[in-house]
Amino acid sequence: MNAPLTPVTVIGLGNLGRALALALVERGHPTTVWNRSPAKADPLVAKGARRVGTVAEAVAASPLVIVCVLDYDAARAALTPSAGALAGRALVNITSGTPEPVRAMADWAAEQGADYLDGAVYAVPQTIGTPEAFVLYSGSRAAFDAHHPTLDAVLGAGTFTGEDPALASVHDMAVLGGMYGMFAGFFHGITLAGTEGIPAADITRPMVRWLVQAAQALPEFAGDIDSGDYATDTSTIDINRWGLDAILTAGRARGVDDRLLAPLLGLFERQAAEGHGSASLARAYESFAPGARRAG
Ligand SMILES: NC(=O)c1ccc[n+]([C@@H]2O[C@H](COP(=O)([O-])OP(=O)(O)OC[C@H]3O[C@@H](n4cnc5c(N)ncnc54)[C@H](OP(=O)(O)O)[C@@H]3O)[C@@H](O)[C@H]2O)c1
Repeated sequence: MNAPLTPVTVIGLGNLGRALALALVERGHPTTVWNRSPAKADPLVAKGARRVGTVAEAVAASPLVIVCVLDYDAARAALTPSAGALAGRALVNITSGTPEPVRAMADWAAEQGADYLDGAVYAVPQTIGTPEAFVLYSGSRAAFDAHHPTLDAVLGAGTFTGEDPALASVHDMAVLGGMYGMFAGFFHGITLAGTEGIPAADITRPMVRWLVQAAQALPEFAGDIDSGDYATDTSTIDINRWGLDAILTAGRARGVDDRLLAPLLGLFERQAAEGHGSASLARAYESFAPGARRAG
Protein backbone atom coordinates (compact mmCIF):
# COMPACT_ATOMS: atom_id res chain seq x y z
CA MET A 1 0.00 0.00 0.00
CA ASN A 2 1.28 3.48 -0.86
CA ALA A 3 2.15 5.84 2.02
CA PRO A 4 -0.47 8.57 2.48
CA LEU A 5 0.42 11.81 0.71
CA THR A 6 1.43 14.83 2.79
CA PRO A 7 -1.44 17.21 3.52
CA VAL A 8 -0.61 20.59 1.99
CA THR A 9 -2.07 24.07 2.51
CA VAL A 10 -2.00 26.71 -0.19
CA ILE A 11 -2.43 30.34 0.85
CA GLY A 12 -3.14 32.58 -2.14
CA LEU A 13 -5.19 31.42 -5.10
CA GLY A 14 -4.15 33.84 -7.82
CA ASN A 15 -3.13 32.45 -11.19
CA LEU A 16 -0.08 30.61 -9.87
CA GLY A 17 -1.56 29.51 -6.54
CA ARG A 18 -4.66 28.05 -8.25
CA ALA A 19 -2.52 26.05 -10.68
CA LEU A 20 -0.43 24.75 -7.78
CA ALA A 21 -3.47 23.85 -5.67
CA LEU A 22 -5.04 22.06 -8.63
CA ALA A 23 -1.85 20.04 -9.16
CA LEU A 24 -1.91 19.03 -5.48
CA VAL A 25 -5.55 17.97 -5.61
CA GLU A 26 -5.02 16.04 -8.82
CA ARG A 27 -2.08 14.15 -7.31
CA GLY A 28 -4.26 13.19 -4.36
CA HIS A 29 -2.79 15.39 -1.60
CA PRO A 30 -5.28 16.39 1.08
CA THR A 31 -5.31 20.08 0.08
CA THR A 32 -6.52 22.97 2.19
CA VAL A 33 -6.85 26.37 0.57
CA TRP A 34 -7.34 29.95 1.69
CA ASN A 35 -7.66 33.08 -0.41
CA ARG A 36 -8.52 36.66 0.51
CA SER A 37 -11.36 36.51 -2.05
CA PRO A 38 -12.91 33.15 -1.13
CA ALA A 39 -14.77 32.61 -4.44
CA LYS A 40 -11.48 31.84 -6.22
CA ALA A 41 -11.48 28.52 -4.36
CA ASP A 42 -14.80 27.38 -5.91
CA PRO A 43 -13.33 25.32 -8.79
CA LEU A 44 -10.80 23.74 -6.42
CA VAL A 45 -13.46 22.84 -3.86
CA ALA A 46 -15.43 21.22 -6.68
CA LYS A 47 -12.39 18.98 -7.29
CA GLY A 48 -11.90 18.03 -3.65
CA ALA A 49 -9.91 20.83 -1.97
CA ARG A 50 -11.02 22.02 1.47
CA ARG A 51 -11.66 25.76 1.78
CA VAL A 52 -11.23 27.31 5.21
CA GLY A 53 -12.31 30.73 6.42
CA THR A 54 -9.16 31.83 8.25
CA VAL A 55 -5.43 31.61 7.62
CA ALA A 56 -4.96 30.17 11.10
CA GLU A 57 -7.20 27.20 10.18
CA ALA A 58 -5.33 26.84 6.89
CA VAL A 59 -1.94 26.76 8.63
CA ALA A 60 -3.16 24.33 11.28
CA ALA A 61 -4.42 21.90 8.63
CA SER A 62 -1.07 20.80 7.13
CA PRO A 63 2.60 20.30 7.99
CA LEU A 64 3.50 21.91 4.64
CA VAL A 65 2.14 25.41 4.04
CA ILE A 66 2.81 27.09 0.69
CA VAL A 67 2.27 30.84 0.32
CA CYS A 68 1.77 32.36 -3.12
CA VAL A 69 0.45 35.91 -2.99
CA LEU A 70 1.23 39.15 -4.75
CA ASP A 71 4.22 40.35 -2.73
CA TYR A 72 5.83 40.24 0.72
CA ASP A 73 3.53 42.89 2.21
CA ALA A 74 0.58 40.74 1.16
CA ALA A 75 2.27 37.61 2.53
CA ARG A 76 2.89 39.27 5.86
CA ALA A 77 -0.67 40.66 5.97
CA ALA A 78 -2.10 37.24 5.21
CA LEU A 79 0.11 35.30 7.64
CA THR A 80 0.15 37.59 10.67
CA PRO A 81 -3.21 36.39 12.07
CA SER A 82 -1.93 32.80 11.90
CA ALA A 83 1.26 33.41 13.91
CA GLY A 84 0.28 31.09 16.75
CA ALA A 85 -0.37 28.17 14.40
CA LEU A 86 2.94 28.23 12.54
CA ALA A 87 5.16 26.44 15.08
CA GLY A 88 6.49 23.18 13.65
CA ARG A 89 5.20 23.91 10.15
CA ALA A 90 7.32 24.07 7.00
CA LEU A 91 6.47 27.45 5.52
CA VAL A 92 7.36 27.60 1.83
CA ASN A 93 6.96 31.03 0.32
CA ILE A 94 7.00 31.15 -3.48
CA THR A 95 5.85 34.77 -3.62
CA SER A 96 8.37 36.83 -5.64
CA GLY A 97 10.39 39.25 -3.52
CA THR A 98 13.65 41.14 -3.13
CA PRO A 99 16.27 40.00 -0.60
CA GLU A 100 15.45 42.45 2.22
CA PRO A 101 11.76 41.55 2.71
CA VAL A 102 12.66 37.88 2.26
CA ARG A 103 15.13 38.07 5.16
CA ALA A 104 12.57 39.95 7.29
CA MET A 105 9.96 37.29 6.53
CA ALA A 106 12.40 34.50 7.36
CA ASP A 107 13.24 36.14 10.71
CA TRP A 108 9.54 36.54 11.50
CA ALA A 109 8.81 32.93 10.55
CA ALA A 110 11.68 31.73 12.77
CA GLU A 111 10.19 33.71 15.68
CA GLN A 112 6.95 31.77 15.12
CA GLY A 113 8.85 28.47 15.20
CA ALA A 114 8.32 27.68 11.50
CA ASP A 115 10.90 26.15 9.17
CA TYR A 116 11.13 28.79 6.44
CA LEU A 117 11.97 28.00 2.83
CA ASP A 118 11.88 30.66 0.13
CA GLY A 119 11.31 29.70 -3.50
CA ALA A 120 11.77 31.39 -6.88
CA VAL A 121 9.54 29.70 -9.44
CA TYR A 122 10.53 29.53 -13.11
CA ALA A 123 7.21 28.59 -14.61
CA VAL A 124 3.90 30.05 -15.62
CA PRO A 125 0.62 28.54 -14.42
CA GLN A 126 0.39 26.48 -17.63
CA THR A 127 3.81 24.86 -17.09
CA ILE A 128 3.56 24.25 -13.35
CA GLY A 129 4.54 20.70 -12.49
CA THR A 130 5.90 19.97 -15.99
CA PRO A 131 9.51 19.09 -16.88
CA GLU A 132 9.99 22.66 -18.16
CA ALA A 133 9.34 24.18 -14.74
CA PHE A 134 12.05 24.59 -12.12
CA VAL A 135 12.39 26.22 -8.73
CA LEU A 136 15.34 27.62 -6.76
CA TYR A 137 15.03 27.40 -2.96
CA SER A 138 16.90 28.84 0.00
CA GLY A 139 16.46 28.85 3.75
CA SER A 140 15.71 25.77 5.83
CA ARG A 141 17.61 22.73 4.56
CA ALA A 142 15.40 20.53 6.73
CA ALA A 143 12.23 21.85 5.11
CA PHE A 144 13.75 21.35 1.66
CA ASP A 145 14.88 17.79 2.41
CA ALA A 146 11.52 16.85 3.92
CA HIS A 147 9.31 18.32 1.23
CA HIS A 148 11.13 18.64 -2.06
CA PRO A 149 9.69 15.43 -3.50
CA THR A 150 6.19 16.86 -3.02
CA LEU A 151 7.23 20.30 -4.25
CA ASP A 152 9.10 18.90 -7.26
CA ALA A 153 6.03 17.00 -8.39
CA VAL A 154 3.60 19.89 -8.23
CA LEU A 155 5.83 22.89 -9.01
CA GLY A 156 8.94 21.73 -10.89
CA ALA A 157 12.39 20.33 -10.18
CA GLY A 158 13.84 22.10 -7.15
CA THR A 159 17.44 23.09 -6.39
CA PHE A 160 18.58 24.20 -2.93
CA THR A 161 20.88 27.24 -3.24
CA GLY A 162 21.85 27.69 0.43
CA GLU A 163 20.71 28.46 3.96
CA ASP A 164 20.65 32.25 3.63
CA PRO A 165 16.91 32.61 2.93
CA ALA A 166 17.51 35.48 0.49
CA LEU A 167 19.66 33.42 -1.89
CA ALA A 168 16.75 32.27 -4.05
CA SER A 169 15.64 35.88 -4.35
CA VAL A 170 19.15 37.05 -5.29
CA HIS A 171 19.29 34.35 -7.97
CA ASP A 172 15.87 35.44 -9.17
CA MET A 173 16.82 39.13 -9.44
CA ALA A 174 19.89 38.18 -11.48
CA VAL A 175 18.17 35.65 -13.75
CA LEU A 176 15.21 37.90 -14.47
CA GLY A 177 17.57 40.84 -15.11
CA GLY A 178 19.01 38.76 -17.94
CA MET A 179 15.50 38.21 -19.28
CA TYR A 180 14.71 41.93 -19.26
CA GLY A 181 17.93 42.67 -21.13
CA MET A 182 16.71 40.27 -23.80
CA PHE A 183 13.38 42.11 -23.92
CA ALA A 184 15.25 45.41 -24.48
CA GLY A 185 16.91 43.96 -27.58
CA PHE A 186 13.59 42.53 -28.74
CA PHE A 187 11.84 45.92 -28.63
CA HIS A 188 14.71 47.66 -30.41
CA GLY A 189 14.91 44.93 -33.05
CA ILE A 190 11.22 44.71 -33.93
CA THR A 191 11.02 48.52 -34.11
CA LEU A 192 13.96 48.66 -36.51
CA ALA A 193 12.47 45.91 -38.69
CA GLY A 194 9.07 47.60 -38.58
CA THR A 195 10.49 50.75 -40.18
CA GLU A 196 11.13 48.61 -43.27
CA GLY A 197 7.65 47.07 -43.19
CA ILE A 198 8.63 43.73 -41.59
CA PRO A 199 5.94 42.56 -39.14
CA ALA A 200 7.06 41.79 -35.60
CA ALA A 201 6.09 38.13 -36.01
CA ASP A 202 8.32 37.73 -39.06
CA ILE A 203 11.43 39.16 -37.42
CA THR A 204 10.78 37.32 -34.16
CA ARG A 205 11.18 33.87 -35.74
CA PRO A 206 14.88 34.29 -36.71
CA MET A 207 15.49 36.39 -33.59
CA VAL A 208 14.40 33.59 -31.27
CA ARG A 209 16.40 31.07 -33.26
CA TRP A 210 19.54 33.20 -32.89
CA LEU A 211 18.94 34.13 -29.25
CA VAL A 212 18.78 30.46 -28.30
CA GLN A 213 22.23 29.99 -29.88
CA ALA A 214 23.62 33.26 -28.50
CA ALA A 215 22.63 32.23 -24.98
CA GLN A 216 25.11 29.35 -25.30
CA ALA A 217 27.91 31.95 -25.06
CA LEU A 218 26.91 33.04 -21.57
CA PRO A 219 28.57 30.20 -19.59
CA GLU A 220 31.81 30.95 -21.46
CA PHE A 221 31.49 34.67 -20.61
CA ALA A 222 30.80 33.74 -16.99
CA GLY A 223 34.01 31.70 -16.98
CA ASP A 224 35.95 34.69 -18.36
CA ILE A 225 34.47 36.96 -15.67
CA ASP A 226 35.06 34.56 -12.78
CA SER A 227 38.66 33.87 -13.85
CA GLY A 228 39.47 37.43 -14.97
CA ASP A 229 41.04 35.89 -18.11
CA TYR A 230 39.53 37.67 -21.11
CA ALA A 231 41.67 36.18 -23.89
CA THR A 232 39.43 35.08 -26.76
CA ASP A 233 39.41 33.81 -30.30
CA THR A 234 35.63 33.96 -30.48
CA SER A 235 34.00 37.36 -30.02
CA THR A 236 35.95 40.51 -29.17
CA ILE A 237 34.96 43.85 -27.71
CA ASP A 238 35.88 45.53 -31.02
CA ILE A 239 33.79 43.30 -33.29
CA ASN A 240 30.76 43.81 -31.06
CA ARG A 241 31.43 47.52 -30.67
CA TRP A 242 31.38 47.97 -34.44
CA GLY A 243 28.34 45.70 -34.79
CA LEU A 244 26.24 47.42 -32.16
CA ASP A 245 27.28 50.87 -33.37
CA ALA A 246 26.08 49.95 -36.88
CA ILE A 247 22.75 48.71 -35.51
CA LEU A 248 22.19 51.89 -33.51
CA THR A 249 23.25 54.11 -36.43
CA ALA A 250 20.86 52.32 -38.80
CA GLY A 251 18.09 52.58 -36.23
CA ARG A 252 18.63 56.29 -35.55
CA ALA A 253 18.49 56.98 -39.31
CA ARG A 254 15.00 55.41 -39.21
CA GLY A 255 13.85 57.25 -36.08
CA VAL A 256 14.36 54.29 -33.73
CA ASP A 257 14.99 55.28 -30.12
CA ASP A 258 18.48 54.09 -29.10
CA ARG A 259 18.00 54.51 -25.34
CA LEU A 260 17.67 50.81 -24.54
CA LEU A 261 20.91 49.70 -26.22
CA ALA A 262 23.13 52.79 -26.33
CA PRO A 263 24.37 52.28 -22.73
CA LEU A 264 25.63 48.84 -23.74
CA LEU A 265 27.65 50.37 -26.57
CA GLY A 266 29.05 52.78 -23.97
CA LEU A 267 30.47 49.83 -22.02
CA PHE A 268 32.13 48.39 -25.12
CA GLU A 269 33.60 51.81 -26.00
CA ARG A 270 35.07 52.27 -22.52
CA GLN A 271 36.82 48.90 -22.77
CA ALA A 272 38.17 49.76 -26.24
CA ALA A 273 39.36 53.17 -24.99
CA GLU A 274 41.26 51.42 -22.19
CA GLY A 275 43.02 49.23 -24.77
CA HIS A 276 40.94 46.05 -24.46
CA GLY A 277 39.40 45.97 -27.94
CA SER A 278 40.74 42.49 -28.66
CA ALA A 279 39.53 41.06 -25.34
CA SER A 280 36.47 38.88 -24.91
CA LEU A 281 33.14 40.69 -25.08
CA ALA A 282 32.69 39.54 -21.50
CA ARG A 283 35.19 42.20 -20.47
CA ALA A 284 32.37 44.78 -20.76
CA TYR A 285 31.53 43.55 -17.26
CA GLU A 286 34.63 45.36 -15.98
CA SER A 287 33.20 48.68 -17.18
CA PHE A 288 29.73 47.91 -15.87
CA ALA A 289 30.62 46.71 -12.39
CA PRO A 290 33.86 48.36 -11.24
CA GLY A 291 32.28 49.44 -7.95
CA ALA A 292 30.18 46.35 -7.33
CA ARG A 293 31.28 43.84 -4.72
CA ARG A 294 32.24 40.59 -6.40
CA ALA A 295 32.52 37.02 -5.27
CA GLY A 296 35.83 35.53 -4.28
N1 LIG B 1 1.97 33.92 -12.62
C1 LIG B 1 3.20 33.51 -12.90
O1 LIG B 1 3.48 33.05 -14.01
C2 LIG B 1 4.27 33.55 -11.84
C3 LIG B 1 5.49 32.90 -12.08
C4 LIG B 1 6.49 32.93 -11.10
C5 LIG B 1 6.27 33.62 -9.92
N2 LIG B 1 5.07 34.26 -9.72
C6 LIG B 1 4.88 34.97 -8.45
O2 LIG B 1 3.86 34.34 -7.70
C7 LIG B 1 3.13 35.33 -6.98
C8 LIG B 1 1.67 35.21 -7.32
O3 LIG B 1 1.52 35.43 -8.73
P1 LIG B 1 0.11 35.27 -9.45
O4 LIG B 1 0.36 35.31 -10.91
O5 LIG B 1 -0.63 34.12 -8.85
O6 LIG B 1 -0.59 36.66 -9.00
P2 LIG B 1 -2.13 37.05 -9.07
O7 LIG B 1 -2.87 36.19 -10.01
O8 LIG B 1 -2.18 38.53 -9.26
O9 LIG B 1 -2.65 36.71 -7.59
C9 LIG B 1 -2.28 37.50 -6.48
C10 LIG B 1 -2.73 36.78 -5.22
O10 LIG B 1 -2.31 37.58 -4.10
C11 LIG B 1 -3.43 37.79 -3.25
N3 LIG B 1 -3.27 39.02 -2.50
C12 LIG B 1 -2.92 40.24 -2.99
N4 LIG B 1 -2.86 41.13 -1.99
C13 LIG B 1 -3.18 40.47 -0.85
C14 LIG B 1 -3.27 40.84 0.52
N5 LIG B 1 -3.02 42.09 0.92
N6 LIG B 1 -3.60 39.87 1.41
C15 LIG B 1 -3.85 38.61 1.04
N7 LIG B 1 -3.78 38.18 -0.25
C16 LIG B 1 -3.44 39.12 -1.18
C17 LIG B 1 -4.61 37.82 -4.19
O11 LIG B 1 -5.80 37.64 -3.48
P3 LIG B 1 -7.22 38.06 -4.15
O12 LIG B 1 -7.59 36.92 -5.04
O13 LIG B 1 -8.11 38.24 -2.99
O14 LIG B 1 -6.96 39.33 -4.92
C18 LIG B 1 -4.25 36.62 -5.09
O15 LIG B 1 -4.53 35.41 -4.46
C19 LIG B 1 3.73 36.69 -7.34
O16 LIG B 1 4.67 37.08 -6.37
C20 LIG B 1 4.41 36.40 -8.67
O17 LIG B 1 5.49 37.28 -8.93
C21 LIG B 1 4.08 34.22 -10.64
